[in-house]
Amino acid sequence: MMTQNLGASRSAQSEAPGGVGGSALLCWTEPACERRRARIWWALRAQRVEEAEVAGLALSSVSRRTPGASSVLRAEEKSDCIQTTSCQERKKDPIEMFHSGQLVKVCAPMVRYSKLSFRTLVRKYDCDLCYTPMIVAADFVRSAKARDSEFTTNQGDCPLIVQFAANDARLLSDAARIVCPYANGIDINCGCPQRWALAEGYGACLINKPELVRDMVKQVRNQVENPRFSVSIKIRIHDDLTRTVDLCRKAEATGVSWITVHGRTVEERHQPVHYEAIKIIKESMSIPIVANGDIRSLKEAENVWHITGTDGVMVARGLLANPAMFAGYEETPLKCIWDWVDIALELGTPYMCFHQHLMYMMEKITSRQEKRIFNALSSTSAVLDYLTDHYGIDRTS
Ligand SMILES: Cc1cc2nc3c(=O)[nH]c(=O)nc-3n(C[C@H](O)[C@H](O)[C@H](O)COP(=O)(O)O)c2cc1C
Repeated sequence: MMTQNLGASRSAQSEAPGGVGGSALLCWTEPACERRRARIWWALRAQRVEEAEVAGLALSSVSRRTPGASSVLRAEEKSDCIQTTSCQERKKDPIEMFHSGQLVKVCAPMVRYSKLSFRTLVRKYDCDLCYTPMIVAADFVRSAKARDSEFTTNQGDCPLIVQFAANDARLLSDAARIVCPYANGIDINCGCPQRWALAEGYGACLINKPELVRDMVKQVRNQVENPRFSVSIKIRIHDDLTRTVDLCRKAEATGVSWITVHGRTVEERHQPVHYEAIKIIKESMSIPIVANGDIRSLKEAENVWHITGTDGVMVARGLLANPAMFAGYEETPLKCIWDWVDIALELGTPYMCFHQHLMYMMEKITSRQEKRIFNALSSTSAVLDYLTDHYGIDRTS
Protein backbone atom coordinates (compact mmCIF):
# COMPACT_ATOMS: atom_id res chain seq x y z
CA MET A 1 0.00 0.00 0.00
CA MET A 2 1.47 3.32 -1.02
CA THR A 3 1.05 6.28 1.26
CA GLN A 4 1.67 9.96 0.69
CA ASN A 5 2.84 12.69 2.99
CA LEU A 6 3.03 16.11 1.42
CA GLY A 7 5.51 17.96 3.54
CA ALA A 8 8.50 15.67 3.65
CA SER A 9 11.65 16.84 2.01
CA ARG A 10 13.06 14.82 -0.86
CA SER A 11 16.05 13.76 1.15
CA ALA A 12 13.90 12.49 3.99
CA GLN A 13 11.74 10.62 1.54
CA SER A 14 14.65 9.02 -0.21
CA GLU A 15 15.68 7.53 3.12
CA ALA A 16 12.21 6.20 3.82
CA PRO A 17 11.73 2.51 4.50
CA GLY A 18 11.16 0.83 1.19
CA GLY A 19 11.07 -2.80 2.26
CA VAL A 20 7.32 -3.02 2.64
CA GLY A 21 6.15 -1.50 -0.58
CA GLY A 22 6.39 2.03 0.75
CA SER A 23 4.24 1.39 3.82
CA ALA A 24 5.03 3.02 7.11
CA LEU A 25 5.94 0.61 9.83
CA LEU A 26 4.99 1.46 13.37
CA CYS A 27 5.12 4.38 15.71
CA TRP A 28 8.60 5.87 15.98
CA THR A 29 8.22 6.50 19.67
CA GLU A 30 8.23 2.83 20.46
CA PRO A 31 11.37 0.80 21.04
CA ALA A 32 12.59 -0.97 17.92
CA CYS A 33 11.94 -4.40 19.39
CA GLU A 34 8.29 -3.52 19.99
CA ARG A 35 7.96 -2.56 16.40
CA ARG A 36 9.65 -5.72 15.21
CA ARG A 37 7.50 -7.95 17.37
CA ALA A 38 4.29 -6.27 16.27
CA ARG A 39 5.24 -6.37 12.63
CA ILE A 40 6.19 -10.03 12.72
CA TRP A 41 2.94 -10.72 14.55
CA TRP A 42 0.99 -8.85 11.91
CA ALA A 43 2.72 -10.62 9.03
CA LEU A 44 2.14 -14.04 10.60
CA ARG A 45 -1.53 -13.30 11.17
CA ALA A 46 -1.86 -12.31 7.58
CA GLN A 47 -0.09 -15.58 6.76
CA ARG A 48 2.81 -13.72 5.22
CA VAL A 49 5.42 -15.94 6.73
CA GLU A 50 8.07 -14.88 4.30
CA GLU A 51 7.46 -11.24 5.11
CA ALA A 52 7.62 -12.02 8.81
CA GLU A 53 11.01 -13.58 8.34
CA VAL A 54 12.20 -10.61 6.33
CA ALA A 55 10.75 -8.27 8.95
CA GLY A 56 13.00 -9.82 11.53
CA LEU A 57 15.97 -8.67 9.49
CA ALA A 58 14.65 -5.52 7.85
CA LEU A 59 13.52 -3.93 11.08
CA SER A 60 16.90 -4.26 12.66
CA SER A 61 17.91 -1.23 10.61
CA VAL A 62 14.82 0.84 11.41
CA SER A 63 16.18 2.30 14.61
CA ARG A 64 18.94 4.06 12.66
CA ARG A 65 16.42 6.07 10.64
CA THR A 66 15.35 9.48 11.72
CA PRO A 67 11.73 10.28 12.63
CA GLY A 68 11.52 12.39 9.47
CA ALA A 69 11.99 9.24 7.48
CA SER A 70 8.60 7.98 8.60
CA SER A 71 7.33 9.83 5.56
CA VAL A 72 6.52 6.79 3.63
CA LEU A 73 6.83 7.63 -0.01
CA ARG A 74 10.08 7.66 -1.87
CA ALA A 75 10.56 10.61 -4.19
CA GLU A 76 10.29 8.67 -7.41
CA GLU A 77 7.16 6.90 -6.19
CA LYS A 78 5.64 10.20 -5.27
CA SER A 79 5.72 11.57 -8.79
CA ASP A 80 3.95 8.42 -10.06
CA CYS A 81 1.32 8.85 -7.43
CA ILE A 82 0.59 12.42 -8.32
CA GLN A 83 -0.12 11.31 -11.86
CA THR A 84 -2.23 8.32 -11.01
CA THR A 85 -4.37 9.96 -8.34
CA SER A 86 -4.95 13.31 -10.00
CA CYS A 87 -8.43 14.59 -9.22
CA GLN A 88 -9.57 14.29 -12.84
CA GLU A 89 -9.08 10.55 -12.53
CA ARG A 90 -10.79 10.18 -9.18
CA LYS A 91 -13.67 7.97 -10.19
CA LYS A 92 -16.01 8.35 -7.26
CA ASP A 93 -17.32 11.87 -7.48
CA PRO A 94 -19.11 12.98 -4.27
CA ILE A 95 -21.31 15.44 -6.15
CA GLU A 96 -22.58 12.63 -8.38
CA MET A 97 -23.08 10.48 -5.30
CA PHE A 98 -25.25 13.17 -3.69
CA HIS A 99 -27.39 13.36 -6.79
CA SER A 100 -27.87 9.58 -7.02
CA GLY A 101 -30.93 9.54 -4.76
CA GLN A 102 -29.17 7.00 -2.49
CA LEU A 103 -28.24 7.71 1.11
CA VAL A 104 -24.64 8.97 1.11
CA LYS A 105 -22.88 7.87 4.32
CA VAL A 106 -20.15 10.22 5.43
CA CYS A 107 -17.38 9.95 8.04
CA ALA A 108 -17.12 13.33 9.80
CA PRO A 109 -14.00 15.40 10.19
CA MET A 110 -12.54 14.56 13.61
CA VAL A 111 -9.40 16.16 14.95
CA ARG A 112 -6.93 13.42 15.94
CA TYR A 113 -9.21 10.62 14.69
CA SER A 114 -10.39 10.77 11.06
CA LYS A 115 -6.88 10.09 9.77
CA LEU A 116 -5.84 7.79 6.96
CA SER A 117 -5.90 4.56 9.01
CA PHE A 118 -9.37 5.21 10.39
CA ARG A 119 -10.67 6.32 7.01
CA THR A 120 -9.34 3.09 5.51
CA LEU A 121 -11.23 1.12 8.17
CA VAL A 122 -14.60 2.85 7.77
CA ARG A 123 -14.40 2.64 3.98
CA LYS A 124 -14.19 -1.15 4.40
CA TYR A 125 -17.56 -0.96 6.16
CA ASP A 126 -19.70 0.93 3.64
CA CYS A 127 -18.68 4.50 4.35
CA ASP A 128 -19.08 6.42 1.08
CA LEU A 129 -17.14 9.62 1.75
CA CYS A 130 -14.48 10.61 4.29
CA TYR A 131 -13.23 13.91 5.67
CA THR A 132 -9.77 14.56 7.09
CA PRO A 133 -9.52 16.15 10.52
CA MET A 134 -9.68 19.95 10.48
CA ILE A 135 -6.34 21.41 9.39
CA VAL A 136 -5.44 25.07 9.96
CA ALA A 137 -4.95 26.39 6.42
CA ALA A 138 -2.38 29.03 7.42
CA ASP A 139 -0.10 26.45 9.09
CA PHE A 140 -0.56 24.03 6.21
CA VAL A 141 0.51 26.60 3.64
CA ARG A 142 3.46 27.93 5.62
CA SER A 143 4.97 24.81 7.10
CA ALA A 144 6.18 21.62 5.42
CA LYS A 145 6.25 20.03 8.85
CA ALA A 146 2.55 20.82 9.34
CA ARG A 147 1.74 19.35 5.93
CA ASP A 148 3.71 16.24 6.71
CA SER A 149 2.07 15.64 10.07
CA GLU A 150 -1.47 16.77 9.22
CA PHE A 151 -2.18 15.18 5.87
CA THR A 152 -1.43 11.66 4.71
CA THR A 153 -3.29 9.82 2.00
CA ASN A 154 -2.97 6.94 -0.45
CA GLN A 155 -4.65 5.71 -3.62
CA GLY A 156 -7.46 3.86 -1.84
CA ASP A 157 -8.32 6.95 0.20
CA CYS A 158 -11.02 8.20 -2.14
CA PRO A 159 -13.37 10.04 -2.25
CA LEU A 160 -11.72 12.39 0.21
CA ILE A 161 -12.53 15.88 1.47
CA VAL A 162 -9.84 17.89 3.25
CA GLN A 163 -11.32 20.14 5.90
CA PHE A 164 -9.66 23.45 6.67
CA ALA A 165 -9.99 26.03 9.41
CA ALA A 166 -9.53 29.35 7.64
CA ASN A 167 -10.32 33.04 7.91
CA ASP A 168 -8.43 34.27 4.87
CA ALA A 169 -9.43 33.65 1.27
CA ARG A 170 -5.89 33.74 -0.13
CA LEU A 171 -4.46 31.26 2.37
CA LEU A 172 -7.40 28.93 1.93
CA SER A 173 -7.09 28.90 -1.83
CA ASP A 174 -3.33 28.26 -1.54
CA ALA A 175 -4.08 25.31 0.76
CA ALA A 176 -6.73 24.05 -1.68
CA ARG A 177 -4.28 24.15 -4.55
CA ILE A 178 -1.78 22.08 -2.59
CA VAL A 179 -4.26 19.30 -1.82
CA CYS A 180 -6.11 19.43 -5.13
CA PRO A 181 -4.18 16.52 -6.76
CA TYR A 182 -4.82 14.31 -3.73
CA ALA A 183 -8.45 15.00 -2.84
CA ASN A 184 -11.93 15.44 -4.29
CA GLY A 185 -12.54 18.74 -2.57
CA ILE A 186 -12.11 20.93 0.46
CA ASP A 187 -14.50 21.86 3.24
CA ILE A 188 -14.52 25.04 5.31
CA ASN A 189 -15.13 24.48 9.01
CA CYS A 190 -17.91 26.91 10.01
CA GLY A 191 -19.06 24.91 13.02
CA CYS A 192 -16.23 24.45 15.53
CA PRO A 193 -17.44 26.05 18.78
CA GLN A 194 -14.15 25.80 20.69
CA ARG A 195 -12.94 28.99 22.28
CA TRP A 196 -9.47 28.95 20.70
CA ALA A 197 -11.00 28.59 17.23
CA LEU A 198 -13.49 31.42 17.76
CA ALA A 199 -10.69 33.64 19.08
CA GLU A 200 -8.72 33.04 15.86
CA GLY A 201 -11.75 33.79 13.68
CA TYR A 202 -12.15 30.13 12.66
CA GLY A 203 -15.05 27.72 12.96
CA ALA A 204 -18.51 28.69 14.13
CA CYS A 205 -17.92 32.44 14.07
CA LEU A 206 -18.03 32.16 10.27
CA ILE A 207 -21.77 31.50 10.35
CA ASN A 208 -22.04 35.20 11.23
CA LYS A 209 -19.73 36.27 8.40
CA PRO A 210 -21.45 35.22 5.16
CA GLU A 211 -19.36 37.69 3.12
CA LEU A 212 -16.10 36.15 4.28
CA VAL A 213 -17.43 32.67 3.52
CA ARG A 214 -18.43 33.91 0.07
CA ASP A 215 -14.96 35.39 -0.55
CA MET A 216 -13.23 32.20 0.51
CA VAL A 217 -15.42 30.01 -1.70
CA LYS A 218 -14.96 32.37 -4.66
CA GLN A 219 -11.20 32.49 -4.27
CA VAL A 220 -10.92 28.68 -4.18
CA ARG A 221 -13.16 28.42 -7.23
CA ASN A 222 -10.97 30.95 -9.06
CA GLN A 223 -7.67 29.37 -8.07
CA VAL A 224 -8.46 25.69 -8.54
CA GLU A 225 -8.96 24.97 -12.21
CA ASN A 226 -10.75 21.65 -11.91
CA PRO A 227 -14.53 22.35 -11.90
CA ARG A 228 -15.16 18.96 -10.30
CA PHE A 229 -13.12 19.91 -7.25
CA SER A 230 -15.77 20.49 -4.58
CA VAL A 231 -15.93 23.35 -2.09
CA SER A 232 -18.29 22.63 0.78
CA ILE A 233 -19.03 24.13 4.18
CA LYS A 234 -19.95 22.54 7.50
CA ILE A 235 -22.09 24.74 9.73
CA ARG A 236 -24.03 24.88 12.96
CA ILE A 237 -27.45 26.57 13.04
CA HIS A 238 -28.45 29.98 14.45
CA ASP A 239 -31.14 30.50 17.12
CA ASP A 240 -32.92 32.44 14.39
CA LEU A 241 -33.12 29.93 11.54
CA THR A 242 -33.77 32.61 8.90
CA ARG A 243 -30.14 33.67 9.38
CA THR A 244 -28.96 30.11 8.67
CA VAL A 245 -31.11 29.92 5.54
CA ASP A 246 -29.73 33.30 4.45
CA LEU A 247 -26.13 32.10 4.97
CA CYS A 248 -26.81 28.89 3.03
CA ARG A 249 -28.45 30.75 0.14
CA LYS A 250 -25.51 33.15 -0.12
CA ALA A 251 -23.10 30.21 -0.05
CA GLU A 252 -25.10 28.41 -2.72
CA ALA A 253 -25.10 31.50 -4.94
CA THR A 254 -21.29 31.65 -4.67
CA GLY A 255 -20.85 28.09 -5.87
CA VAL A 256 -20.68 25.94 -2.75
CA SER A 257 -21.05 22.27 -3.75
CA TRP A 258 -22.96 21.06 -0.67
CA ILE A 259 -23.54 22.02 2.95
CA THR A 260 -23.32 19.84 6.04
CA VAL A 261 -25.56 20.99 8.87
CA HIS A 262 -24.83 19.97 12.46
CA GLY A 263 -28.28 20.63 13.88
CA ARG A 264 -27.20 22.44 17.02
CA THR A 265 -26.46 26.08 17.81
CA VAL A 266 -22.97 27.19 18.82
CA GLU A 267 -23.96 27.19 22.48
CA GLU A 268 -25.57 23.75 22.45
CA ARG A 269 -23.55 20.68 23.46
CA HIS A 270 -25.70 17.72 24.48
CA GLN A 271 -29.14 19.12 23.71
CA PRO A 272 -31.24 17.18 21.19
CA VAL A 273 -30.36 17.81 17.55
CA HIS A 274 -32.83 20.06 15.68
CA TYR A 275 -33.64 17.77 12.75
CA GLU A 276 -36.65 19.94 11.93
CA ALA A 277 -34.28 22.86 11.30
CA ILE A 278 -32.17 20.71 8.97
CA LYS A 279 -35.34 19.78 7.07
CA ILE A 280 -36.25 23.48 6.64
CA ILE A 281 -32.75 24.26 5.37
CA LYS A 282 -32.95 21.36 2.90
CA GLU A 283 -36.33 22.59 1.62
CA SER A 284 -34.88 26.08 1.06
CA MET A 285 -31.92 24.96 -1.04
CA SER A 286 -31.14 23.33 -4.38
CA ILE A 287 -27.65 22.02 -3.59
CA PRO A 288 -27.18 18.79 -1.58
CA ILE A 289 -27.51 19.00 2.19
CA VAL A 290 -25.95 16.55 4.65
CA ALA A 291 -27.50 16.03 8.10
CA ASN A 292 -25.24 15.66 11.13
CA GLY A 293 -25.75 15.01 14.83
CA ASP A 294 -26.42 12.08 17.19
CA ILE A 295 -26.67 9.30 14.60
CA ARG A 296 -25.54 6.02 16.15
CA SER A 297 -26.68 3.24 13.82
CA LEU A 298 -27.59 2.58 10.20
CA LYS A 299 -31.27 2.55 11.20
CA GLU A 300 -30.93 5.99 12.77
CA ALA A 301 -29.05 7.20 9.70
CA GLU A 302 -31.87 6.08 7.43
CA ASN A 303 -34.44 7.60 9.77
CA VAL A 304 -32.69 11.00 9.83
CA TRP A 305 -32.33 10.83 6.03
CA HIS A 306 -36.09 10.28 5.70
CA ILE A 307 -37.28 12.87 8.19
CA THR A 308 -34.95 15.63 6.97
CA GLY A 309 -35.14 14.82 3.26
CA THR A 310 -31.38 15.42 3.03
CA ASP A 311 -28.94 13.84 0.58
CA GLY A 312 -26.59 12.24 3.08
CA VAL A 313 -25.76 11.81 6.74
CA MET A 314 -22.50 12.54 8.49
CA VAL A 315 -21.42 10.64 11.61
CA ALA A 316 -18.59 11.29 14.08
CA ARG A 317 -18.95 9.64 17.52
CA GLY A 318 -21.12 6.80 16.23
CA LEU A 319 -18.28 5.70 13.94
CA LEU A 320 -15.67 6.05 16.65
CA ALA A 321 -17.72 3.65 18.79
CA ASN A 322 -18.57 1.34 15.90
CA PRO A 323 -16.65 1.87 12.65
CA ALA A 324 -18.83 -0.85 11.07
CA MET A 325 -22.12 0.95 11.76
CA PHE A 326 -22.76 1.99 8.15
CA ALA A 327 -22.62 -1.69 7.17
CA GLY A 328 -25.52 -2.33 9.54
CA TYR A 329 -23.68 -3.70 12.60
CA GLU A 330 -25.30 -2.65 15.89
CA GLU A 331 -22.04 -3.14 17.81
CA THR A 332 -18.41 -3.25 16.71
CA PRO A 333 -17.83 -6.77 15.35
CA LEU A 334 -14.60 -8.53 16.35
CA LYS A 335 -13.66 -8.66 12.70
CA CYS A 336 -13.63 -4.88 12.63
CA ILE A 337 -11.28 -4.77 15.61
CA TRP A 338 -8.84 -7.10 13.87
CA ASP A 339 -9.20 -5.08 10.68
CA TRP A 340 -8.21 -2.00 12.67
CA VAL A 341 -5.15 -3.78 14.04
CA ASP A 342 -4.08 -4.86 10.57
CA ILE A 343 -4.69 -1.46 8.96
CA ALA A 344 -3.13 0.53 11.78
CA LEU A 345 0.00 -1.60 11.83
CA GLU A 346 0.31 -1.69 8.09
CA LEU A 347 -0.06 2.06 7.63
CA GLY A 348 1.94 3.01 10.69
CA THR A 349 -0.24 4.58 13.35
CA PRO A 350 1.11 6.29 16.46
CA TYR A 351 0.49 4.17 19.54
CA MET A 352 -1.78 6.70 21.27
CA CYS A 353 -4.07 6.83 18.25
CA PHE A 354 -4.01 3.04 17.77
CA HIS A 355 -4.92 2.43 21.42
CA GLN A 356 -7.48 5.25 21.70
CA HIS A 357 -9.46 3.95 18.74
CA LEU A 358 -9.55 0.49 20.29
CA MET A 359 -10.81 1.97 23.56
CA TYR A 360 -13.67 3.63 21.69
CA MET A 361 -14.48 0.50 19.69
CA MET A 362 -14.40 -1.82 22.70
CA GLU A 363 -16.35 0.49 25.02
CA LYS A 364 -19.58 -1.46 24.67
CA ILE A 365 -18.19 -4.97 24.50
CA THR A 366 -15.90 -4.93 27.53
CA SER A 367 -16.73 -5.00 31.25
CA ARG A 368 -15.56 -2.22 33.56
CA GLN A 369 -12.77 -4.40 34.91
CA GLU A 370 -11.58 -5.35 31.41
CA LYS A 371 -11.59 -1.67 30.45
CA ARG A 372 -9.39 -0.78 33.40
CA ILE A 373 -6.81 -3.33 32.31
CA PHE A 374 -7.03 -2.55 28.60
CA ASN A 375 -6.92 1.22 29.00
CA ALA A 376 -3.75 0.98 31.09
CA LEU A 377 -1.80 -0.90 28.39
CA SER A 378 1.10 1.12 27.09
CA SER A 379 2.64 -0.67 24.13
CA THR A 380 1.53 -2.13 20.83
CA SER A 381 2.68 -5.62 21.71
CA ALA A 382 0.84 -5.51 25.06
CA VAL A 383 -2.33 -4.58 23.16
CA LEU A 384 -1.78 -7.36 20.63
CA ASP A 385 -1.21 -9.90 23.39
CA TYR A 386 -4.34 -8.71 25.20
CA LEU A 387 -6.47 -9.01 22.08
CA THR A 388 -5.09 -12.43 21.20
CA ASP A 389 -5.63 -13.71 24.78
CA HIS A 390 -9.17 -12.37 25.01
CA TYR A 391 -10.48 -12.73 21.51
CA GLY A 392 -8.20 -15.27 19.79
CA ILE A 393 -7.25 -14.58 16.22
CA ASP A 394 -10.49 -15.65 14.61
CA ARG A 395 -11.18 -12.88 12.08
CA THR A 396 -14.55 -14.10 10.90
CA SER A 397 -16.96 -13.17 13.72
C1 LIG B 1 -13.26 13.78 18.57
C2 LIG B 1 -14.01 14.77 17.70
C3 LIG B 1 -13.30 15.59 16.85
C4 LIG B 1 -13.99 16.49 16.03
N1 LIG B 1 -13.27 17.25 15.14
C5 LIG B 1 -13.96 18.01 14.22
C6 LIG B 1 -13.27 18.65 13.16
O1 LIG B 1 -12.06 18.52 13.00
N2 LIG B 1 -14.00 19.42 12.31
C7 LIG B 1 -15.36 19.56 12.42
O2 LIG B 1 -15.99 20.25 11.61
N3 LIG B 1 -16.02 18.95 13.41
C8 LIG B 1 -15.37 18.16 14.29
N4 LIG B 1 -16.06 17.46 15.24
C9 LIG B 1 -17.53 17.55 15.25
C10 LIG B 1 -18.11 16.39 14.44
O3 LIG B 1 -17.66 16.42 13.10
C11 LIG B 1 -19.65 16.39 14.47
O4 LIG B 1 -20.12 17.57 13.85
C12 LIG B 1 -20.20 16.33 15.88
O5 LIG B 1 -19.47 15.42 16.69
C13 LIG B 1 -21.67 15.88 15.85
O6 LIG B 1 -21.79 14.63 15.20
P1 LIG B 1 -21.96 13.23 15.99
O7 LIG B 1 -23.18 13.37 16.87
O8 LIG B 1 -22.11 12.20 14.92
O9 LIG B 1 -20.75 13.03 16.86
C14 LIG B 1 -15.41 16.58 16.08
C15 LIG B 1 -16.10 15.74 16.96
C16 LIG B 1 -15.43 14.83 17.74
C17 LIG B 1 -16.23 13.92 18.66
